[in-house]
Amino acid sequence: MTSLVVIDEGSAQAKATYRAENGAIVTHVVPSRVAEQAKVDINGYSGSAYFTEEGGEYTVNGDFDDIIRTNIPSYQTSEANRALVHETLRQSGFAGRPVRVAVTLPMNQFFSKVQGAPINQKLIANKKRNVLGGIKSAAGHQLAEIIDCKVYPEGIPALFDTIRNDDGSLKPGFEEGMKILVVDIGGTTTDVSVVTPDGTIESYDSFSTGVLTVVERFSELAAPEFGLKRIPRALAEEAVKTGRLKNMNVSELIQRASRNVMQTILRELEAMVSTPSLLDKILMVGGGAALMGRDLAEAMGVEVLIPEQPDMAISRGIYKLEMLKARS
Ligand SMILES: Nc1ncnc2c1ncn2[C@@H]1O[C@H](COP(=O)(O)OP(=O)(O)OP(=O)(O)O)[C@@H](O)[C@H]1O
Ligand SMILES: [Mg+2]
Repeated sequence: MTSLVVIDEGSAQAKATYRAENGAIVTHVVPSRVAEQAKVDINGYSGSAYFTEEGGEYTVNGDFDDIIRTNIPSYQTSEANRALVHETLRQSGFAGRPVRVAVTLPMNQFFSKVQGAPINQKLIANKKRNVLGGIKSAAGHQLAEIIDCKVYPEGIPALFDTIRNDDGSLKPGFEEGMKILVVDIGGTTTDVSVVTPDGTIESYDSFSTGVLTVVERFSELAAPEFGLKRIPRALAEEAVKTGRLKNMNVSELIQRASRNVMQTILRELEAMVSTPSLLDKILMVGGGAALMGRDLAEAMGVEVLIPEQPDMAISRGIYKLEMLKARS
């Protein structure tokens, strides 16, 4: 049987949602760290190394110094992205199995501001073609057989995840006419949109800041304190996530590192919504919501909704949408 696997492959991490063998809906995360080389270990090619049909070599999921940039538009339709999708499927247990996948594009790439063509169909078709493209495991592992690929925008599905039940009905406290501000603070991009519960977009904007900006600043601040020249990105990301580095509490440093990013986000929100109190609800998602959501809400003087595991909200929301579509 063909399974559905949703993979919200952001610039910092790929978030998968699927049904496990025991029937439960589960999530799995793979960091978006891809090196442009098939790495070798003691057994030969690394288990997460790939050869693409175009002749490219990639290795996913290590603590590499030579990782490619994932926050540029060309990444979205790159062989590196295809390798990350396959590695996420392999780690999620879909090797050798047929799957339908749903992947994502940042809002400002999925939508187009060109009149008469609100959705960027060409880019969506390219992304789909890229995910379906040829790839082999360098180590000879079996890979998932991707038989179809859908593309969703980031942002909006998180709203669906938060405010609707599995049957599509609204959860208590939400009404169809509401205007909801959705703030998705990702690794490198913060997407802000004003949306109604049926998904109609009133306005949206994206700007370049996020948790990885905090991670970089944290590395600069923490390296001298730990007597290091630099802190490897994976270690710094883990520290920002857990509040600990080498078993020491580094929350004060993280707070200092977050300050500028929080200011940027506050300024942008202010520019976009002059009167936050006119909005019915504010939803904050993305890894940045876990890191800074409460402090941002306090600074704005408003109440915000932050779902559990806010970095998984888009992936979960798309899964719910797809299940609902399959039922109707
Ligand atoms: N509880 C947490 N505390 C701090 N940081 C977290 C937490 N959970 C996740 N993160 C971090 O937040 C970052 C952003 O995660 P997210 O999945 O939202 O980004 P992304 O979707 O990959 O990026 P983008 O949307 O910009 O492409 C990641 O680096 C992740 O490690
Ligand atoms: Mg994201």
